[in-house]
Amino acid sequence: MNNHTKALPHPIFFIIAKASQELGLSTFVIGGFVRDYILNRGEAKDIDIVTLGSGIALAKKVAQLLPNKPNVQVFKNFGTAMLKTEEIEVEFVGARKESYRKDSRKPSVEEGSLQDDQNRRDFTINAMAISLNKDNYGTLIDPFGGLNHLEEKLIKTPLEPGVTYSDDPLRMLRAIRFATQLNFTIEEDSLQAITQHADRITIISKERIIDELHKILLAAKPSIGFALLEKTKLLDIILPELIALKGIDEIEGQRHKDNFWHTLEVVDNIAQHTDNLWLRWAALLHDIGKAPTKRFDKKIGWTFHSHEFVGAKMVYKLFKRLKMPLNDKMKFVQKMVLMSSRPIVIASDDVTDSAVRRLIFDAGDYIEDLMTLCEADITTKNPKRFKKYHNNFKLVRKKIKEVEERDHVRNFEPPVSGEEIMQTFNLKPSREIGVIKDAIKEAILEGEIPNEYAAAREFMLKKGKQLGLTHV
Ligand code: CTP
Repeated sequence: MNNHTKALPHPIFFIIAKASQELGLSTFVIGGFVRDYILNRGEAKDIDIVTLGSGIALAKKVAQLLPNKPNVQVFKNFGTAMLKTEEIEVEFVGARKESYRKDSRKPSVEEGSLQDDQNRRDFTINAMAISLNKDNYGTLIDPFGGLNHLEEKLIKTPLEPGVTYSDDPLRMLRAIRFATQLNFTIEEDSLQAITQHADRITIISKERIIDELHKILLAAKPSIGFALLEKTKLLDIILPELIALKGIDEIEGQRHKDNFWHTLEVVDNIAQHTDNLWLRWAALLHDIGKAPTKRFDKKIGWTFHSHEFVGAKMVYKLFKRLKMPLNDKMKFVQKMVLMSSRPIVIASDDVTDSAVRRLIFDAGDYIEDLMTLCEADITTKNPKRFKKYHNNFKLVRKKIKEVEERDHVRNFEPPVSGEEIMQTFNLKPSREIGVIKDAIKEAILEGEIPNEYAAAREFMLKKGKQLGLTHV
């Protein structure tokens, strides 16, 4: 059935059709809206409209016909206009025949037919249009077999792939992102073209690249995307830190695991337990310090000493290079990377209260996230070990709960303040205050004294005496 009027229940479509008719234009809904309607991906919030004429004039006319007369945002350089209502965002564009300059994404625009416009779109599944015109309202116009490709779960370009990707290299990432989100296959010729043109990704802004990476990371199975990024060599350019984790070395019969493929498993695992984008980033980056810290020791074999510390420092550089926020999100990822081995160390020993108290104190409110990361980090294929490690973490979680309920050390401040220490010993701001405060904190974390005022004050007096201070 070729009539898709069902796709157009929203009243906005009738208004666009009316405006288009009044202006004597031919108008179509196109792109992601049509794709997602056919895929049944839930109600779309973004609608792309293409018209044979001025998209800006059409947008203005639509705004006039809408009861609340919304503002039209005009992007004159691109010949596009946008209109927002409460639930949806509609973008209007005149059909174009475009040629892109090689050094930029900014196209030079020339008016074209619907077919011209469809030719210049990224994928066959994104090039389908539905008519909003009176004579064939609701008809699907699908010149490249997008409908079949949706069924075959195939990402394919309307034109020769080399042309489509060099017109706009961001599409290389979009292909991989759609393949990941929809669990589609990228057609072989396209994959080859992406590999061939991979270095053209450097002309794309970091923000756009990161936007696509975020979407890949937020998919149900992000490894699909990262494996494709690796295969096409895009990852060498975007995240070389991950590529450095690839490979297995062997010396004297001792091998270490391939930390790249391990990382992808960790990311898939964590994706089943959290939608927190930054925790997923932490999973992706948790082992990046392993490449620069890898050593072989004749006695102990492969080591990655202080890779967590080195990794946390690398997180900052990586975020900066990719123009990601250098704010609390980055600090969170750093903290997760820095602490990523802590629960493991505890789980393999006999868990002591003081180790658990320290873990809670250092992780603060992120203790849950840290445990989620560590559990996702279990990728052993040995069922016995898999069970054992998970059981160990269950014990750690239980212990965390017990200790937390009893000692309240999460985000704790020593119960005696610096002010009180100064008054007690008649001190001006000085080093001794820090020494006493730290000693109190240590004593509480070690379990020498309870996390209570009276005990802490008594401990302070003892410590002051040891330091030769007089109690006034
Ligand atoms: N498009 C394109 N090349 C790009 C970006 C977009 O050809 N680099 C076209 C595609 O036809 C696409 C439409 O513009 O369907 C709208 O783009 P956009 O809103 O970015 O993506 P959607 O396909 O709607 O999908 P999503 O919302 O998931 O990004």
